[in-house]
Amino acid sequence: MSSHSQALSHTADTSRDPRFRAKVDNLQAAESSFLAGTSSIQHKPILAQLEICNICNIACRMCALTLDPQFKSTGVSRRMMKFETVEKMADFWPTISKCYLMGLGEPTLNPDFVRIVEYLKGFGIALSFNTNGMLVDDAMARKFVSIGVDSITFSIDGATAKTYNYIRVGSDFDTMIANVRRLSAIKRENGSPFPAIVFANVLMCDNIREAAALVELGAEVGVAGVHFEALLWQHDAVYIHDMFHRHKITNESAEVIAEEFAKAVAAGRRHGIGVTSQYLDDDGNFLAHKLAELDPSYRG
Ligand SMILES: C[S@@+](CC[C@H](N)C(=O)[O-])C[C@H]1O[C@@H](n2cnc3c(N)ncnc32)[C@H](O)[C@@H]1O
Ligand code: SF4
Repeated sequence: MSSHSQALSHTADTSRDPRFRAKVDNLQAAESSFLAGTSSIQHKPILAQLEICNICNIACRMCALTLDPQFKSTGVSRRMMKFETVEKMADFWPTISKCYLMGLGEPTLNPDFVRIVEYLKGFGIALSFNTNGMLVDDAMARKFVSIGVDSITFSIDGATAKTYNYIRVGSDFDTMIANVRRLSAIKRENGSPFPAIVFANVLMCDNIREAAALVELGAEVGVAGVHFEALLWQHDAVYIHDMFHRHKITNESAEVIAEEFAKAVAAGRRHGIGVTSQYLDDDGNFLAHKLAELDPSYRG
C-alpha cells in the first residue's frame, strides 16, 4: 500500500472511491513540495483537529480542564462546536485525509457529535478521537460502527475501580468498561474491525503498578493497543505543578517502573496487543533516560 493510501481511511478502496482522488492529489502535492525542499507549499491542509467541546462531564485529577483557573473564570467561553460550523469549513474537507476530533473536553457530550462524525466520514476522512467513554451507549456505539469511525481511544487511568474512580473523579469504572465491551460486541455482530479500540493511560505513581493488569483487561475487552502516556509537565502552567509532584511516576523508583513496564510489554506480547509509550522504544525496551527527560525535577 502506498504512503498516500495509508494516510487515508482503511475502510474504502482508495484507488476506486472518487472521494479519495482529491486527497491523493493533495498528498502527492505535499510530498513533491517536501522532497523539493520548497519554502512555498502547493498543497492544502492534510490533517485537521477539531475541539468539538471544551466542557466535561467528569473532573480528572491531572487534567488542565479541572486545574486551570482560566476555565473556572468567565474568561474562557465553555462551548460546543455546532454542526453548522463544521459545515462552513466544507472547502477543506475534500482534501483533508485525517481528522482528530479532540482537544480539552469530552467530545461525546456535544449533541451534534454523531452528526459531525457522519458528515466528515462522508468525505472519506480517517477519523479518530479520545473519550472518557461514559456516554458511549448502545445507540452511539452502533452509529460509530455503522459510520466506520477508524479508531476510538478510551482514556482509562487504572485497571481497578478503586484507582480509576480515584483519578477520574466523577466517572465510573464499571459503566465505562461495560460500554467498551458493548462496542466490541457490536463490532463482532457486524463483522467490522472498525472502530479499532485503544486504551490510553496517563502514567502516575498511583497507577503504574496496574500497567500489566490494564493490558490484560484490554485483551479481555477487545482492544488493539494500550498507550501509556507521560503525565504532562508545563513550566509556564503553575496550576499544574502541585498535581505533577503529587502524582508523577518518579515518586516510584526507577527499578519498580522498569519492572512494571516489562510486565506490561510481556502481557502485550502474550495477547498480541501493541503496548506503546514515550518510555519505551519500538521493541518495548524501557528507556530509563526518559524519566529525567519527562520530569525536570528528577534526580535519579
Ligand atoms: C484532555 S482529554 C480529552 C478527551 C476525553 N475527555 C478523554 O478524557 O479522553 C485527552 C487525553 O489527555 C489525557 N490527559 C489529561 N490530562 C493529562 C495530563 N496532565 N498529562 C497527560 N495527558 C493528560 C486524557 O487522559 C486523555 O487521554
Ligand atoms: S474526561 Fe478528558 S477532558 Fe474530561 S477531565 Fe478527564 S481528561 Fe479532562
